[in-house]
Amino acid sequence: MQSVAKPDLLSQLYELPDKLSPEQAKQLMEETLRAYEDHIDRFLPLYVRVLGEEMLEWRAEGAWLYSPTGERWMDCLGAGGVFGLGFRHPKVVEAVKKQIDRVGLSSRLFINPVTAALAKKLAGLAPEGLDQVFFANSGTESLEAALKLARLASGKPGIVGTYYGYHGMSIATLSISGLEAWRKGTEPAVGGSAVIGFNDIEQVRKAVTKDTAALVLEPVQWASGCEVATTEYLKAVREHCDKVGAFLIFDEVQCGLGRAGTLWGCTPSGVIPDILCVGKILSGGIMPIAAVVYNAKVRYGERDRPQFNNSSYGGNPMSCAAGLAALNVMTDDGVLDRAIELGNKLGAILDEWVKKYPKALKSHRGAGLMRCLEMKQPSMGSVMQDYARKRHVIVASMMHMPQFVRVSPPFTASDEEFDFFLKAVEESLEEISRMSLMDLMRYNNDFGKHAQQVMMQLAQDRAAEGH
Ligand SMILES: Cc1ncc(COP(=O)(O)O)c(C=O)c1O
Repeated sequence: MQSVAKPDLLSQLYELPDKLSPEQAKQLMEETLRAYEDHIDRFLPLYVRVLGEEMLEWRAEGAWLYSPTGERWMDCLGAGGVFGLGFRHPKVVEAVKKQIDRVGLSSRLFINPVTAALAKKLAGLAPEGLDQVFFANSGTESLEAALKLARLASGKPGIVGTYYGYHGMSIATLSISGLEAWRKGTEPAVGGSAVIGFNDIEQVRKAVTKDTAALVLEPVQWASGCEVATTEYLKAVREHCDKVGAFLIFDEVQCGLGRAGTLWGCTPSGVIPDILCVGKILSGGIMPIAAVVYNAKVRYGERDRPQFNNSSYGGNPMSCAAGLAALNVMTDDGVLDRAIELGNKLGAILDEWVKKYPKALKSHRGAGLMRCLEMKQPSMGSVMQDYARKRHVIVASMMHMPQFVRVSPPFTASDEEFDFFLKAVEESLEEISRMSLMDLMRYNNDFGKHAQQVMMQLAQDRAAEGH
């Protein structure tokens, strides 16, 4: 009997229902994994294969990510803090739908009112004096634009960043971030770039000189385990930059817009940069957008150019509609206040847990809803990530420093949802506290062995197909 070929689900995605049968889900999973492996990337699909769970984004709503069969996880990590408003916030969705029925992308020859409205709103929220806006498509692009602006405005070459700073994956942003693993193979770094220690004013005084265009800092630096810049440091940095005539750039792509428990990461210090980069939450979790907000000193430096930068898509009407709706929800619907409230609650609970689970939790760092749990042992990070996920909460240990587990819950979580997240993390901490070093070793070894088996099986399957 001739076998009937299964339909190719990837070619009929929008004919499929919101909930799939287990068989359809399995088929869709395999087709998706296969297309990733063949055309996109092998690492992420391998991770999904090894875990063997239905980690296939099918629908998303509020705090929750749903698989095709309807299994759900509360996303408390979301693309490094993008989902402050959760997934598909109704007001952001509505604004984007309305905008798409008017103008989607811009001709870039005419002006557009929604782009103007977002610039006005953002300038109104930015720290004092920062009222000039350039829209970019991603955080990385906003940092690139900020560096370009600083060089144009100062006429100087030097750009300085900090170890464990993260500003994106382009060559210039990698040149001012201090993680060797990210930079490796992309060298040489951009001329004039330097990297120094974070929260160390003496290093700033040495490295930031009369030849420096800009120093770039994150007020809360996630990649070193959500390290918070001290107020004394930021004040001294501001003073030194003014003294030598260097611009100060704050990368608030992640810590800004309420994530770190205040409107801006720099708000508690009272220190205002010359250039502020904003991203992630500005998207409303719907449309990619980032922005550079800068002051008149920097603007003056644009000199007589008609434009200092350009992009086909930057500041497009759909992204600006999402950004405007997101900012309105933050300011008018009490979402910023909710972020502050939940951030304070999380900080207090983490303080308690450090005392209650000393065998698992060494400390915690960060601010607001941008936190890192520092586990007692590096091997505990991945266990924490797995245990929380088994309890349907997504958090992640850092690949380059696995003792740190990042948590970035949505600001819009209800009390019940926030308690669900806390319960999953606390139960995981309890379980890890009961593990001996031997148990931990066994857990991680078993995972390694299983990963190897999966890789071997995959290689055999591919060989059998003639690949
Ligand atoms: C502080 C910071 N800056 C810049 C970026 C780069 O942003 P994007 O991934 O949107 O390019 C990120 C992304 O995680 C970030 O956390």
